[in-house]
Amino acid sequence: MQNFTSVKDVKHLQNLVNKAQNFKIKSMITNKLDNHKTLGLLFFNPSLRTRLSTEKAAKNLGINVIILNANDGWKLEFEDGAIMNLDKAEHVKEAAAVLSQYCDILGVRSFPTLTDKAKDYADFVLNKFIEYATVPIVSLESAIRHPLQSLADLVTIKEHQKTAKPKVVLTWAPHPKALPQAVANSFSEWVLAAEYDLTIVCPKGFELNPAFTDGATISNNQETAFEGADFIYAKNWSSWKNYGQTLYPNESWMINSAKMALTNNAFFMHCLPVRRNIVVSDSVLDSPNSLVIEQANNRTFAAQAVLSEILNHQ
Ligand code: CP
Repeated sequence: MQNFTSVKDVKHLQNLVNKAQNFKIKSMITNKLDNHKTLGLLFFNPSLRTRLSTEKAAKNLGINVIILNANDGWKLEFEDGAIMNLDKAEHVKEAAAVLSQYCDILGVRSFPTLTDKAKDYADFVLNKFIEYATVPIVSLESAIRHPLQSLADLVTIKEHQKTAKPKVVLTWAPHPKALPQAVANSFSEWVLAAEYDLTIVCPKGFELNPAFTDGATISNNQETAFEGADFIYAKNWSSWKNYGQTLYPNESWMINSAKMALTNNAFFMHCLPVRRNIVVSDSVLDSPNSLVIEQANNRTFAAQAVLSEILNHQ
């Protein structure tokens, strides 16, 4: 694997899921690469899970970690040919090339603008790093995808699935802010690649970009979609069609125990952070069927699998 930015970078999906599971089972000491490598983590946006789980994964493998909060320093210029006489002190051309001198792998987190659809869906910032870095790039959540989260989610589903092709429902849920589509896009791509039965349910106007959902059943009826589900994955996202907009209030879409009762005793999943009693009721989040903490735990092993895969192929 050269870069890790989407499921398309993964040659053998089940092998990568198995590798993550093996890292969870085996002691970290037996998996140390011990090769004096350095991972740089560059955050343009905040993180709790991605930052700590990826750092822990690297340390489990014996890899050094350098973390840079990109917004603490000067702003980077990304436009080619820019005349840099305003507030941006360094071009990504130099920044990515310099970071590549200190690091063997670079992780980048960069959220979308939610105002410039074309730029966001070109994954502008991530692709500039891919263009100008000379080392592999790992997405720590880009404008349109969150592959480390999706890999951890597949590990979590594998640990709990009772049938070979479980019914997985990705449901839109309410949120007071306009949020990216990245987690939902990515979850859809990975679940479809794993050949599970995927239904995506959302209020009218919140349908995701079809490029990410081809093969899924798309519905606007949450209660019907929940029937027979083995996994309910809740997430808010802003409209892709009316780009970045929250459109209208939909409090009735919150996940609660009555809705979970329609399912096949489904497990509840969410990538976190989650707003209690807005996205999902306490009763569901605190129930034994909630997998949210296991998902967060599996982030470490997903990152470990990805980092070792990249370094083993260098
Ligand atoms: N799920 C997730 O990516 O969490 P953070 O934003 O805290 O990294």
